[in-house]
Amino acid sequence: MLIKTASDIRSSEITPKSLYLNRRRLLAGAGGLLLAQSAFAAKIANVKKSPLSTTEAITPVGDATSYNNFYELGTSKAAPAQNAARLKTQNWKVKVEGACNKPMTFDMDGLMKLGAMEERIYRMRCVEAWSIVVPWIGYSLSNLLKAVEPTAKAKYVSFETFYDPGSMLSSAAGGIEFPYREGLRLDEAMHPLALLTFGMYGETLPNQNGAPVRLIVPWKYGFKGIKSINKIRLVEKEPSSTWKMSNPSEYGFYSNVNPQVDHPRWSQGSERRLGEFSRRKTLMFNGYADQVASLYAGMDLKKNY
Ligand code: MTE
Repeated sequence: MLIKTASDIRSSEITPKSLYLNRRRLLAGAGGLLLAQSAFAAKIANVKKSPLSTTEAITPVGDATSYNNFYELGTSKAAPAQNAARLKTQNWKVKVEGACNKPMTFDMDGLMKLGAMEERIYRMRCVEAWSIVVPWIGYSLSNLLKAVEPTAKAKYVSFETFYDPGSMLSSAAGGIEFPYREGLRLDEAMHPLALLTFGMYGETLPNQNGAPVRLIVPWKYGFKGIKSINKIRLVEKEPSSTWKMSNPSEYGFYSNVNPQVDHPRWSQGSERRLGEFSRRKTLMFNGYADQVASLYAGMDLKKNY
């Protein structure tokens, strides 16, 4: 009788081939997850606390990093964290072009040097009526815009998310058009509260929250906070934005948080803070009215929703 020792037995003999290939894929996936988590673990140095921070209770990090909207990585709230490793952030470049004297392509080191890093604890109110309070890390977007010197023709800024059709959802599967696009009026983009964001909770952004660089515009609904930006363009006309393109009667260009203008399918009068049970009232401009209301003086905010 021939007895095989363990080293003689090939795994293909004891495991059906499909299972064994699946196991290899699983292991590769676990490796990817570890990589994604180690990217999250990078500390950002020399961060100053900002006087623009709210003193409200901070949302637990686990809530803010596991309940997300990032349709390129899946349309459920859990999918972006589960599929985080599909977003490859190595050798990331951000191209800034259009109506400016100094168009430039930045690598992350160059981009992160354009302003002094601050921790800003901001409220973020999603259009779906949940909200979070997060210690974001970044600097005012105005630092980047000033560096490229907008010309007199620059009236708006448009932003685009990196899109890899090979590893991300198709537009048909996502239900919105990719690459994801957003835009701001130039004066909104130059407002000190508009934050070019590189980190949260002391560390670089995890992929599901928009690594390596995203926007946070705290007085607007969360969908204006475009993630994983790789293109910025200064333009003369109001740029197209993904949610407005998908459903213009439900989502406008401005999308300022406004409890008096309901979404056609639900009230915007209140919200649920992640980690809490009772609802709270939603505030005009998400509580930032003192700082930003003057940007919209004389505008009908019911029409310009
Ligand atoms: N950016 C891209 N590229 N893709 C998206 O699907 N979702 C937006 C915004 N930025 C989204 C995006 C929406 S609807 C919200 S509420 C916020 O990201 C959520 O940010 P968070 O997951 O960090 O809380």
